[in-house]
Amino acid sequence: MMTEILFKYSEAHTTPEPAVLARLNRETHLSQVYPQMLSGHLQGALLRMIVQMLCPERVLEIGTFTGYSAIAMGLGMPSPPAPPASGMPSPPAPLPQERGGALLHTIEVNPELEDGIRRVIREAGLEDQVVLHIGQAIDIIPGLDEMWDLVFIDADKPNYLNYYNMVLPKVRPGGFIIADNVLWDGKVTGDPAKMDKDTLGIVEFNKFVHQDERVENLILPIRDGLMIIRKL
Ligand SMILES: C[S@@+](CC[C@H](N)C(=O)[O-])C[C@H]1O[C@@H](n2cnc3c(N)ncnc32)[C@H](O)[C@@H]1O
Repeated sequence: MMTEILFKYSEAHTTPEPAVLARLNRETHLSQVYPQMLSGHLQGALLRMIVQMLCPERVLEIGTFTGYSAIAMGLGMPSPPAPPASGMPSPPAPLPQERGGALLHTIEVNPELEDGIRRVIREAGLEDQVVLHIGQAIDIIPGLDEMWDLVFIDADKPNYLNYYNMVLPKVRPGGFIIADNVLWDGKVTGDPAKMDKDTLGIVEFNKFVHQDERVENLILPIRDGLMIIRKL
């Protein structure tokens, strides 16, 4: 969308990636077949700032990949409350969801990515804020008993509309959904008769959300297109 030269200029004039994300960005490019799936420096910085602006208590991400956007958003969340200071022996560590404070749940279907994601969550010091679920998002979402302040949809494109319809009732009024890749490399403006199932999924999603009276929406043409949706 943006010319390479303007993209590089924008990156060079944006606060540098935190070290943990710069390392993950590099590792992802060395180890993954499709490293371009990662949000990257600019989009990561945008997601972190959105989280800092909204101060969400509960965030859901659908599509973790190597963890870049989860860490970027997690770094924008307030730290959890400190444990009570005492000389007493510590009780068994509570699960992240039992500790209070802001939480980000992230869902990834590929079990081969699990160890790497858990490692980078630890490296970022976000074990208390980021909860990883491995499995099909369609199966996992109904079991998450939360009201979401922010949902980031970034998984399989044919299911975008299913994810939207599943999560919208559990987004609090005034809460947000952000969907990535809604311009899909420009293919959304092509001939519908020649579209593949991913493009059709995105086109169907964009059209539905735009006409949905329960929300207001904005397509931000940065990177591959971000749809920002606010529940009324
Ligand atoms: C574009 S990548 C996510 C990138 C990540 N959000 C980031 O910005 O760094 C999409 C991820 O969604 C995962 N995914 C695809 N289908 C899924 C499904 N049905 N349930 C959960 N995750 C899925 C893929 O395995 C892939 O890792």
